This record gives sequence, structure tokens and C-alpha cells, in this order.
Amino acid sequence: MSALQIKHLFGLQGVSKQDIRTILDNAKQFREILERPIKKVPSLRGLTVVNLFFENSTRTRTSFELAEKRLSADTVNFTSSNSSVKKGETLVDTLRNIESMKIDIVVVRHKGTGVPKFLAEHSNAIIVNAGDGAHEHPTQALLDMLTIEEKLGTLEGKNVTIIGDIRHSRVARSNLWGMSTMGAHVTLCGPSTLVPRNTDLMSHVTWEPDVKKAVANADAIIALRLQKERMDDALLPSMREYRNTFGITEDLLECAKDKVIIMHPGPINRGVELDSDIADGEHSVILDQVTNGVAVRMAVLFLLAGGRNENS
Ligand code: CP
Repeated sequence: MSALQIKHLFGLQGVSKQDIRTILDNAKQFREILERPIKKVPSLRGLTVVNLFFENSTRTRTSFELAEKRLSADTVNFTSSNSSVKKGETLVDTLRNIESMKIDIVVVRHKGTGVPKFLAEHSNAIIVNAGDGAHEHPTQALLDMLTIEEKLGTLEGKNVTIIGDIRHSRVARSNLWGMSTMGAHVTLCGPSTLVPRNTDLMSHVTWEPDVKKAVANADAIIALRLQKERMDDALLPSMREYRNTFGITEDLLECAKDKVIIMHPGPINRGVELDSDIADGEHSVILDQVTNGVAVRMAVLFLLAGGRNENS
């Protein structure tokens, strides 16, 4: 059914260049539709999408819901905090009950790594990962890639530096796999306590502990949020020290290219990973990322449901 080689979107590790290209090209067409006075197309009319969120979200959940509505799908929002999960119902029972209501696509966010794949093994629905633990957040990386292509023309040969809490970041992982597939050079930088332990992953990137060197050749800098909720140990001396060493400030940008773009997946800890004057300044494309999120999610849902461009 899927118009892609993949049937579900669990992550970007192993997803082909052709599939990523198809998603980004379709997202560009949906991006144009979002500029029209009437922003709706009938592409998913008759299909039902459930947004199954077991973790908090502002951007991803709103963005998926808008994408579904723009594609004319019927949408249902499930949040674990006001569901029967609180009474002890298991994940699989929750899914099976929801699936019995004849749904077609499940968008899932969960703190457990591998939950989207697990759900696909217990369901006939198309599964889209909206963030699983510290594993992957593929639609965030796709919207980041779309934003880089929009602002810089191409990903091929571009230098992308990701700074911060890499170890706990599903955004960094998805970006690393996706951007290396698309020909970008990814440099990671952050405290040594927050370096990933996965050597396979690290073999695809450059690790640069000196933040000034890490930003010097960057065409795009992605600042990451410190994921305090996923840190078991005291991995940082203090937020002030982190900000002074790795925070994106006017002073640090003196070491970067004049036309560098600054990105952040959100939510931002202002004054920690990013100063406010940078977050709101001329280099920032953070709100463009959010706009592109709707277009990318429209493309992912449309293509996984078998869409072949006739409505866009
Ligand atoms: N970027 C991102 O995933 O934000 P939310 O947690 O608000 O969805």
C-alpha cells in the first residue's frame, strides 16, 4: 500500500535515500499548499488516524493533528494521562481496543525505545514514530532536513553541527542517520558525559569537543535541549557551566560563518543551550522548522497511506 519502500516509519536508520528524497519532495509540494487561502486537500479522506501520545508534546502532536486535518483524515487524540492506562491497561490492550474502532494509522510517542515497532507487530495499522525514548524522532529530522534544503538549497556536502545532549537525543540520532544518507557531513559536540556510547553511530560522524572548532565550518547549527528527564546521574556540573561552555551566544557566533543558520527542535531552555537574542535573531530558522513540520508530516502520512501525488 505504501508509496515508499518502508511500510511504517520507525526511524531513519536504514531508510533509503530514495524514500527520504520522495518524502522531502512531497513535503515541498505540501508546503506550497499551506500557503494557499484554503489549506486542505482530500488525500486522506475516509481514513482515520489516532495520535497515541504517552509523553508530553506541544509541536509534534499539534503538527501531526494539523497535518491530518489538512489531508482531510478523521483524527482522534489519545493522551495516556486521561486514559485507562492509568487503571493498569497494557500498551497492547490499549492498541487492540483502539484498533477495534477501525483505525488506519497510529502516530505514537512513548518513552520506551522500540515501542512503534512493537506496536506494528501487534497491529494491522500503519505506525508512525513520533519519538521513542532516546532512540529516534524521524519526522523531526525530516523537517530539519526540509528546512536546510529550503534555506541552503541542498543537504549534499553541507556541514551540520549538532551541539548538546547527544546521548539522550532521539533528534540527534534521526538527524545523523538521515543527513548522512543525504550526503551532509555531521559534526557532534557537547560535554564528554553526554557522548553516545553507540560506536556504530559514532562511526558516521565527526566528534569535536571544542565548540569553537565545531561551529567554524558549519552551514547549520542544531542546538539540542538538555534532556534532564532522561538523565539518571549528575552528568553536568551546572546549567551555568553548560551555558558558558556550549551555549549558542553572540560571542560563539563570531567564530561561525556569516550565513550560518541556527536550529533547535524545541522546547528551548532559553539562556541554557541558546541565548534569547540568538533564538529570536537573524540566523534563527526555528519557527520555519515548526511550519515545515506540518508539511513533512502531511507527506509521511500521505505516502505511507499509498499516496502518489495526484491530489497535491
Ligand atoms: N520537537 C519536539 O518533539 O517537540 P515536542 O516535544 O513539543 O513535540
